[in-house]
Amino acid sequence: MATRNLFPTYHSTLLLQRCLASLLCFYAVTNHQSDAFDYRDALSKSILYFEGQRSGYLPPDQRVTWHHHSGLSDGFRQGVDLVGGYYDAGDNVKFGLPMAFTITLLSWSVIEYGKQISDAGEYHHALEAIKWGTDYFLKSHTEPNVLWGQVGDGRSDHGCWQRPEDMTTERDAYKIDEKHPGSDLAGETAAALAASSIVFRGANPYYSNILLHHAKELFEFADKFRGKYDDSIEVVKALWLHKATGEVDYYNYVLENAHSFGGIGWEMTEFSWDVKYAGVQVMASMTLPQEQKQILHQYHSKAKHFICACLNKNKEKNLTRTPGGLMFIRPWNNLQYVTTATFLLTVYSDHLKLTNQELSCYRDSVGPDEMASFAKSQVDYILGSNPMRKSYLVGYGPVYPERVHHRGASTVSYKVNTSFIGCIEGYHSWYGHQAPNPNVLIGAVVGGPDKNDRFEDRRGNFMQSEACTYNTAPLVGVFAKLYGSEKNSMIFDS
Ligand SMILES: *[C@@H]1O[C@H](CO)[C@@H](O)[C@H](O)[C@H]1NC(C)=O
Ligand SMILES: *[C@@H]1O[C@H](CO)[C@@H](O)[C@H](O)[C@H]1NC(C)=O
Repeated sequence: MATRNLFPTYHSTLLLQRCLASLLCFYAVTNHQSDAFDYRDALSKSILYFEGQRSGYLPPDQRVTWHHHSGLSDGFRQGVDLVGGYYDAGDNVKFGLPMAFTITLLSWSVIEYGKQISDAGEYHHALEAIKWGTDYFLKSHTEPNVLWGQVGDGRSDHGCWQRPEDMTTERDAYKIDEKHPGSDLAGETAAALAASSIVFRGANPYYSNILLHHAKELFEFADKFRGKYDDSIEVVKALWLHKATGEVDYYNYVLENAHSFGGIGWEMTEFSWDVKYAGVQVMASMTLPQEQKQILHQYHSKAKHFICACLNKNKEKNLTRTPGGLMFIRPWNNLQYVTTATFLLTVYSDHLKLTNQELSCYRDSVGPDEMASFAKSQVDYILGSNPMRKSYLVGYGPVYPERVHHRGASTVSYKVNTSFIGCIEGYHSWYGHQAPNPNVLIGAVVGGPDKNDRFEDRRGNFMQSEACTYNTAPLVGVFAKLYGSEKNSMIFDS
């Protein structure tokens, strides 16, 4: 891939100054207008990414071919088969909580935009991406009140730069049970299973029932044995279970616990795998029926706070934006917040459109089109409409990060050279290497630029160059939506 920068890099204000003075203006304007993005290609790539994160035995139809079987004895020391699932990011640990959040977002994407994903020819792949996670959750839920939540040790793993195929690090597994409860993990996994049971209802009803059964069991486990938890989780999973079963008990649970679990007590300006209030608030305000006026109103006002903050229309708190227009929450893996917020803005704008509403923020009200177009601006920034003229979706467009902080992608493929590479040898030979990664981690979304739109493509710069599964997952839905809208408008135009 020729990845020399095809476009000169300008800081936006600098660009404006030069614009006024020279013919560059013409260049910049025309160049800007030609920022048309291929959302279908982005969608395909975002789904493909999950194959590069797979752990376990890879199937014959594996499309990311530089990656090979790995983690084949995970859980064995504890007497349980935990082979499979996803590596979380650039390391080789399998963390249950972000994995569950990833699967929830992938499922939510398919529930909202299944039609568009199918039109793009990606439905099968999307379901496979979800199933790779849910198969693993089923394995790790070995008893009603036992859930294995992690394989691998963050400390020893992070002291090692090794392909997953060569792993020599501790592969200990950790579980939650009645004596060591962890309602956040059990709850998020229940939410992921309930959401995915909706996805599989048509394609594989038998599998869907199994998922739902485990979701219900985990719900009870989390509710009965409360350990450390992120208060919102109980409500999220009850909402998903209500959506999946239509059972009124789950719904009552959301109402009754709205206060004690803080779902309506907090005003949030971020949504991420460890802070999910905003997701609950937005989902509840779209899901709960009108009769529950008071609770609904409270969820709604919190959802509104989040969305108005994203749009810079709050009285008390707006989000910072970079000069290039990207929402900026914090320097470490900022794009995770951008992609999740963009997803919520997208589903919320659809909700407004469907119910013929506007959202009234502090000064003015916002219609669905304005909301959707702001979401699109964030996606387009990620795809290359930014001062660095770089796509932060790896493998998309002419210029993208080439030194993603990722053990497997930055080391010679096992298929090319099977010679064992040790922990420290990996650091010497591959991590510190100046050359681009030998394997392109297509569809990965890296941490992204800093508050001034600058990005340094260096493997050691993990705050910016590491990619995580939950960065990409929400974009699956957003790309699908954008692809669908574009397709419709083309039909309309012609
Ligand atoms: C948020 O942005 C709006 C619109 O620009 C502005 O009216 C409001 O004062 C801002 N709020 C804060 C806290 O800066
Ligand atoms: C394969 O890797 C080993 C260990 O890093 C190295 O010594 C050897 O030269 C490599 N072989 C090829 C063909 O690159």
